[in-house]
Amino acid sequence: MASGNFILVVAAILAVFLPAATMAATEHWVGGKSGWTINYDYPAWANERVFYVGDSLVFSYTKGHHNVYVANQTEFKDCIVPTGKKPFTSGHDTITLATPGKKWYICGIPTHCSEHKQKLAITVVEGGAPVPAPAPAPAPVPVPVLTPPATNTPVTQPDSPTSSAYGILKSKYQVLTVAAVALAIILIA
Ligand SMILES: *[C@@H]1O[C@H](CO)[C@@H](O)[C@H](O)[C@H]1NC(C)=O
Repeated sequence: MASGNFILVVAAILAVFLPAATMAATEHWVGGKSGWTINYDYPAWANERVFYVGDSLVFSYTKGHHNVYVANQTEFKDCIVPTGKKPFTSGHDTITLATPGKKWYICGIPTHCSEHKQKLAITVVEGGAPVPAPAPAPAPVPVPVLTPPATNTPVTQPDSPTSSAYGILKSKYQVLTVAAVALAIILIA
């Protein structure tokens, strides 16, 4: 069988699985069922999960009742509504966590932050959550097959639709690439 076919199969499998890797980024619904509201224990909520770069926060609330400001540490601590920044106000505000580090969010409606603890602080970390392997990968897989005169196969250019989420997915892509290669070998053998 021509090695060209092999490359095609690998490319096809990657095309199927790479979008799945992108979707593995988590949407964190802030406050769970309660959503973005007053008198909710956001520190406890945040403590229960890990926020990876590429994940997103969804602030869900009745439009007009609350809003979301991205704050800095001081603004968060003292419930200062950031001046010159526009709040999110849609009632379904999705914020992608594009960079690692601490992030702060507050509600800008008077007293909601200061008296009712409507504020959220999280720490975003690099790397992705482990992705369940798409197929049980057989242990030792010889991969010399992959060295053919591949000039520039599309395999090396995963075209993620959410480029902001792309950086963190390297490890996921590696896992998936190994799995895809293993799968291709099984299919071809
Ligand atoms: C936070 O932003 C305020 C402006 O709203 C600024 O005066 C202050 O220096 C900033 N604090 C930090 C810790 O970045």
